[in-house]
Amino acid sequence: MCGIVGLTGSNDTLNQLRTALAALEYRGYDSAGIAVVDRAKGRIIRHRSALRGAAIADLGSERMIWPGDVSAGIAHTRWATHGAPTHDNAHPHVDCRREVAIVHNGIIENHRELSTRLVAAGHVMSSETDSEVIAHLIEEALASGLSTRHSVRAAIAQLRGDFALSVLFLHDPELLIAARRTSPLIVGLTEHTAYLASDIAALLPITRELYALEDDEIVELRPGTILITDAGDQVITPRPLEVTWDVTAAQKDGYADFMSKEIFEQPRALRETLLGRFDGSLRPDFEELSIDATALALVNRVIYLACGSSYHAALSAALATEQFARIPASAEVASEFRYREAVLDQLTLVVVVSQSGETVDTLHALREAKRHGARVIALTNVVDSVMTREADGALYTHAGPEIGVASTKCHLAQIALLEAFALHLGWVRGEVEEELLREGAIHLLATPDLVERALGSAERFLDVGRRFHEVDDVYFLGRRVGYPIALEGALKLKELAYVRAEAYPAGEMKHGPISLIEPGVVVVVVATRTSLWEKVMANVEEMRARGATVVAVIEEGDHETAALVDATLEVPGTMEFCSPIVDVVPLQLFAYAVASARGNDVDRPRNLAKVVTVE
Ligand code: M6R
Repeated sequence: MCGIVGLTGSNDTLNQLRTALAALEYRGYDSAGIAVVDRAKGRIIRHRSALRGAAIADLGSERMIWPGDVSAGIAHTRWATHGAPTHDNAHPHVDCRREVAIVHNGIIENHRELSTRLVAAGHVMSSETDSEVIAHLIEEALASGLSTRHSVRAAIAQLRGDFALSVLFLHDPELLIAARRTSPLIVGLTEHTAYLASDIAALLPITRELYALEDDEIVELRPGTILITDAGDQVITPRPLEVTWDVTAAQKDGYADFMSKEIFEQPRALRETLLGRFDGSLRPDFEELSIDATALALVNRVIYLACGSSYHAALSAALATEQFARIPASAEVASEFRYREAVLDQLTLVVVVSQSGETVDTLHALREAKRHGARVIALTNVVDSVMTREADGALYTHAGPEIGVASTKCHLAQIALLEAFALHLGWVRGEVEEELLREGAIHLLATPDLVERALGSAERFLDVGRRFHEVDDVYFLGRRVGYPIALEGALKLKELAYVRAEAYPAGEMKHGPISLIEPGVVVVVVATRTSLWEKVMANVEEMRARGATVVAVIEEGDHETAALVDATLEVPGTMEFCSPIVDVVPLQLFAYAVASARGNDVDRPRNLAKVVTVE
């Protein structure tokens, strides 16, 4: 999604802005722009580019004439939401007098109403964006005699929706002001320079002195200093951000792309995520959670909320929760939950699952759950993310930064942590026998090794994928624990290979979709030896009888199943509730191979962004 950076006090402003923008490129963008104050000529200089795939580089090209004497600047990568991805819609936007420039992430829901009023008052809008009104609101407030900070405060008081924004002022060229509501924004300091960014990746190469900003706080940045005021305009002490990642962790480590690097990092991601979750007696240890065992024991229902791959992890979690904690549990798509007038109360535990901790649909679902009085835990991969700050408790997957747009290592780490949490719930509620708990813990703690073993067959999985790279229609089938695996396999194929792929609970095919099965259709089935293996194989027979080509995820050495299908993806067997962690691996590589063979960019699939911060 969109990215913001800004800095003041550097003697290399333009290069630093462009480098920071490049660090945000992985999030996806369609246009980019920079604004700085030209001190010699006393004007704001702004350049924007909508050159598809190269807009950031374009900002450094010879046709962009930048001033020499620059003290501060703001920059933006845009992912179009309101208005096409054009030059005129690219940020920064300026006011009528060109004395204020702004960059904005998020959506201003009441922008039409604000724009109508501003235009009636004589303002001229030069873009189709929802963002431009912010520059004009600040212009209006400055004209009424308010200070720079109070003008920004007056402007944001009129905004409905989510935003992170930064403002540059012609008449105070060393000042930047930034504010946020829901959308992420952090600030950073070095001795002489102050920085802001919507994403830690942009600032990590520069400084580790980073600070968080809460909703409706405003930060004023001047060379080497920041001043934060809260919603009541009181000066507050900056809150340092804990940063555990280093910059090299975000690089490719010699792999062709981030996705393969991250797939092969999965054993490590699992090990680090599971580290310390069970004590020496294999009892769950969730001390980091600020919700204590007594409160958890009283919960009478668990709802997992998430989007995309995180939702698939949530589905596995709901199954494990019912199995081990014997408590009603469900998983829901966050964007639907938010609008369905759910019935919840203080005894409902809501767990929001999000790699980024920023996905706006999940964030709003979290807020909706809190509004109903539910206790909320955020399970994310990003320390200090927006969701973790708003939830009652946080659980972290320690998978490291995930750069590939398609979630892989974070997805596996989510499942592992959620399964451990399900065991924990079962334990604190007295529902899980000590022996079953031990067995579960032993199997869960073995998953990093099993995934490592599965990755030993990576070349074989890739070969099977390449063999099917020309397919147009693929069905993914699974039952019970196999169904979320099928969903994840289908999502990976869709998002990476751009192949129509549908996932079904295998038993549901005969209720309609089976009419689509004919020779040429490929069916990928999760057929490891779970309790429903026989039922799954009966469904496989139905597919084969109608001419489908069947590819099956099977257990190593399972010749019986192998003899009944056309191609196999063999993985080590495990206890049923752990199988989603292991069985997804060949499907990731299957999708990777189909996508690569089709010439697709696996790290940046078309139309997708890593973090979806707009509704
Ligand atoms: O950061 P989140 O886990 O909240 O993101 C949720 C989805 O946007 C994400 O899982 C998406 O579906 C991925 N592209 C899947 O590979």
